[in-house]
Amino acid sequence: MNSLNLIRLLAAVATLVAAGHASADSTGKWQSSQEVYNKVCGYCHEANVGPVITGRNLMPEYISAIVRNGNRAMPAFRESEINDAALAGVAKLVSTSPAAAAKK
Ligand code: HEC
Repeated sequence: MNSLNLIRLLAAVATLVAAGHASADSTGKWQSSQEVYNKVCGYCHEANVGPVITGRNLMPEYISAIVRNGNRAMPAFRESEINDAALAGVAKLVSTSPAAAAKK
């Protein structure tokens, strides 16, 4: 990762934390897997901060493991941020999405 990407990543993390984006609505539930993708994953993965993850047939198990544990520059998300059901949903969505369709 070059330093420009690192700066973008740090800015994205800071904004996510400050805006509380990485959390569900007041009922504690995400409305849909698409909402999780748009509000959390898309924040980096649709903005050239993280690599494109849609349209690559990535395995749902692999996606879930990266989200829970983090991987190098990818931050880990806890159950309190994205619960297991929401994570399973977004992993399936990403896994099966064609490259550009996850944006809608
Ligand atoms: C704060 C920015 C950020 C957010 C938010 C984020 N990611 Fe990432 N993600 C990254 C970066 C950066 C990498 C590349 C890590 C590396 O290789 O150093 C990455 C890597 C990944 C990978 C591995 C991709 C590959 O090519 O093998 C997967 C899968 C992934 N992210 C899924 C997700 C999912 C699903 C979400 C939403 C729940 C999410 N990420 C949210 C920044 C983010």
